[in-house]
Amino acid sequence: MSPSAPPAATIVIFGGSGDLARRKLVPALFELHCQGQLAPETAVVGFARSVDSDDAWRADLRAALAEFGGTKHGDEEWESFAARLFHFRGDLKQTQSFADLKVRLEALEAERGLPGNRLYYLAIPPSGIGDAVSRLGEAGLVHPAVGEGPWSRLVVEKPFGHDLASARALNEIVRASFRESQVFRIDHYLGKETTQNILVFRLGNGIFEPLWNRRYVDHVQITVAETLGVEGRGKFYEESGIFRDIVENHMLQLLCLVAMEPPVAFEANVVRDEKVKVLRSVRPQTPEEIMRDTVRGQYAAGSIGGLPVPGYRQEENVASGSTRETYAAWKVQIENWRWAGVPFYLRAGKRLPKRVTEIAITFKTPPIALFRRAGVLIQEPNVLVLRIQPDEGIALRIGAKEPGPTMRVDSVKMDFRYSEHFGEKTPDAYERLLLDALNGDPTLFARRDEVEAAWELVTSVLDVWSESPPRDLPNYEAGTWGPEAAMELLARDGRRWRRP
Ligand SMILES: NC(=O)c1ccc[n+]([C@@H]2O[C@H](COP(=O)([O-])OP(=O)(O)OC[C@H]3O[C@@H](n4cnc5c(N)ncnc54)[C@H](OP(=O)(O)O)[C@@H]3O)[C@@H](O)[C@H]2O)c1
Repeated sequence: MSPSAPPAATIVIFGGSGDLARRKLVPALFELHCQGQLAPETAVVGFARSVDSDDAWRADLRAALAEFGGTKHGDEEWESFAARLFHFRGDLKQTQSFADLKVRLEALEAERGLPGNRLYYLAIPPSGIGDAVSRLGEAGLVHPAVGEGPWSRLVVEKPFGHDLASARALNEIVRASFRESQVFRIDHYLGKETTQNILVFRLGNGIFEPLWNRRYVDHVQITVAETLGVEGRGKFYEESGIFRDIVENHMLQLLCLVAMEPPVAFEANVVRDEKVKVLRSVRPQTPEEIMRDTVRGQYAAGSIGGLPVPGYRQEENVASGSTRETYAAWKVQIENWRWAGVPFYLRAGKRLPKRVTEIAITFKTPPIALFRRAGVLIQEPNVLVLRIQPDEGIALRIGAKEPGPTMRVDSVKMDFRYSEHFGEKTPDAYERLLLDALNGDPTLFARRDEVEAAWELVTSVLDVWSESPPRDLPNYEAGTWGPEAAMELLARDGRRWRRP
């Protein structure tokens, strides 16, 4: 897990003019460049229909860096970075574009003394992925994965498919041109420092792992809450919804990391084997159980931070009678020796009061209420909270005696904050993931079977939902913690959601 400086390569960003490239990929590459993590010969080629010249692309990326780049660097760094950037005007739908790309890449490799290693990054709309992958293969742009020669790797953004059938079909297309060892399916949550810390925290400290099971854990809550609405992406959201957009990938990845067995080694396939086992251990639910154990929500107009915001149905490109969910809650049971009987409650929502991603592990209360006779009627359980974003850190709630002559127990917090200990700047997830892809380390990327196992679970819910469209939407006001039904989901089990 300690990336070394990667070999020289050509990084081809399909979608070089798009939002992801401008907001995340190029700022991450610039940061790696400034840290000396890119080989001097390494080049970045931006493939898109709308870039006309190297100069135009560079100027646009400079503006993007000013807007989205984290650490500020001077003109000198920019000039040396810009010299690595080359535009390529092409269309994913045109076979000729790929033939031309091959010529362009070979010329560039010769000019810069590049060894021929290529990282193809697909930052394009999902509908273009199949075309791009097939044409890369057909044009002879993919080096074989065996032998000592230069390598070709493919990085694919989420969403990887729309449901189980489309994810399988896409995997088949990918398999026709690339071997699994060449494929890097991104879930940027896995590149976050705090996500990686889940395993270090669990398995690198002797005191937690013995408690990490059904004997001591009462239940687990995983929350991905956003204050934002759909931010102009109404069309995308109408097709996707939060279950596909957040639960299928980010939340199931977090679930896997919290619930997996310790791997026998910290190696890509061993870690991913353990994650797949978690997904396969999730108890299948009947349609009735799905209707009972899931909640769909959609926000109505309300206010966030004191400012009025419109309801989902009033957003641009959203149907006035849309039944698309912007909130989802799901009670998941993992049927294995470690977790049998411990519910995992997942919730994700837009327009909630606070932006927060966290995993909260609530432990069982002590077997005897020893202080009851002293008047302490309710003792809060210990809760361990792993905060993934923002304000990354770990907090533990413990009971402590309030000072004074009477016996009062208060719930107090031990709190570790990343920024306080390690400083404000933590590397962006994309920096780490790009480095790993260049180094050929797939540990933090999803494997084919992992993606399909996640889609299998999610599709089973989506199928039942599509049979029974909700009639009560919108059912929560923007700026509140979601629909009443989500509160009832936990209340039925005698529990309640945390207020992060
Ligand atoms: N934006 C994010 O923060 C984010 C986060 C996570 C995942 N993603 C995923 O990343 C992918 C890209 O998202 P995005 O937000 O960057 O989309 P976007 O802003 O719409 O950009 C799409 C890019 O694809 C290019 N493109 C589209 N059709 C093309 C064609 N026929 N030939 C050549 N180029 C074509 C566009 O270039 P031209 O129009 O110039 O050809 C543009 O550069 C999507 O799969 C998205 O789900 C994005």
